[in-house]
Amino acid sequence: MYKILRKERLAPGINLFEVHAPKIAKHAKPGQFVIIRLHERGERIPLTIADFDISKGSITIVAQEVGKTTKELGTYEEGDYILDVLGPLGKPSHVEKFGTVVMVGGGVGVAEIYPVARAMKEIGNYVISILGFRTKDLVFWEDKLREVSDEVIVTTNDGSYGMKGFTTHALQKLIEEGRKIDLVHAVGPTIMMKAVAELTKPYGIKTVASLNPIMVDGTGMCGACRVTVGGEIKFACVDGPEFDAHLVDWDELMKRLTYYKELERISLEKWERERRMV
Ligand SMILES: Cc1cc2nc3c(=O)[nH]c(=O)nc-3n(C[C@H](O)[C@H](O)[C@H](O)COP(=O)(O)OP(=O)(O)OC[C@H]3O[C@@H](n4cnc5c(N)ncnc54)[C@H](O)[C@@H]3O)c2cc1C
Ligand code: FES
Repeated sequence: MYKILRKERLAPGINLFEVHAPKIAKHAKPGQFVIIRLHERGERIPLTIADFDISKGSITIVAQEVGKTTKELGTYEEGDYILDVLGPLGKPSHVEKFGTVVMVGGGVGVAEIYPVARAMKEIGNYVISILGFRTKDLVFWEDKLREVSDEVIVTTNDGSYGMKGFTTHALQKLIEEGRKIDLVHAVGPTIMMKAVAELTKPYGIKTVASLNPIMVDGTGMCGACRVTVGGEIKFACVDGPEFDAHLVDWDELMKRLTYYKELERISLEKWERERRMV
């Protein structure tokens, strides 16, 4: 059982949990994730380790409410327990001195790029972070990303805060201005990562994306998380989750993410119905 030390609502539908997990905190590296299960009847879902603190023995996860499990997690409070937290899982991000690194985070992906941006900065890269949100109310962690970046560009789709448009518009602007970019690292909705990959490919800018396929065990035993990279099958939980974005079969990944849509809807509706009856 893993105790929730702190909960913070970062934005509507986006919840931060600092969880007591000393062993995971000790071994965690930027880019890795955990698999959690809330209770005996729960499913296992992957969430990125957005921060870790060895002195407190804690890890931080940030979860966006998109379906039954993440909405149920959203009802958990400080002092509650999560039944299983397994990790750290996946390969750590490849961090080296590239030169100028552009970190692109979309929505909850902003929390996921934080530890990678911090590591990129610590090793001496010039870090430009592009943070993309739908609208002003959903903006979070701008200050936290500023602490580990040389420049931060916030975009909102509707222009209610920062630059109007998508993360790709901000990235395109940097490219058109002739800024030197040695690596782009993107985390966010699959459609955003695909768009980033398509934008940088013609310019030959090395681009890495953290893939988010459906996972079950998270330890390489089942292949639920399989993706095609450069024509080869890879298991994102053990071979990734980060891959060369120019080699990923994005359409296949997007299709696989929709396979359980109907069952996800039924399970959410059942949970909401049961909650109303309590
Ligand atoms: C390596 C990795 C790291 C992730 N990190 C984060 C994070 O830090 N914060 C965050 O909010 N989300 C993260 N996700 C996505 C998160 O796992 C899904 O949002 C969550 O599983 C949805 O569960 P649900 O029951 O609430 O929604 P559901 O209604 O079950 O599903 C909603 C959508 O989420 C996706 N999904 C469903 N089940 C899974 C699953 N077992 N594994 C992966 N995706 C699934 C599908 O696209 C689905 O259509 C990550 C995914 C991966 C693979
Ligand atoms: S989730 Fe089972 S192999 Fe990756």
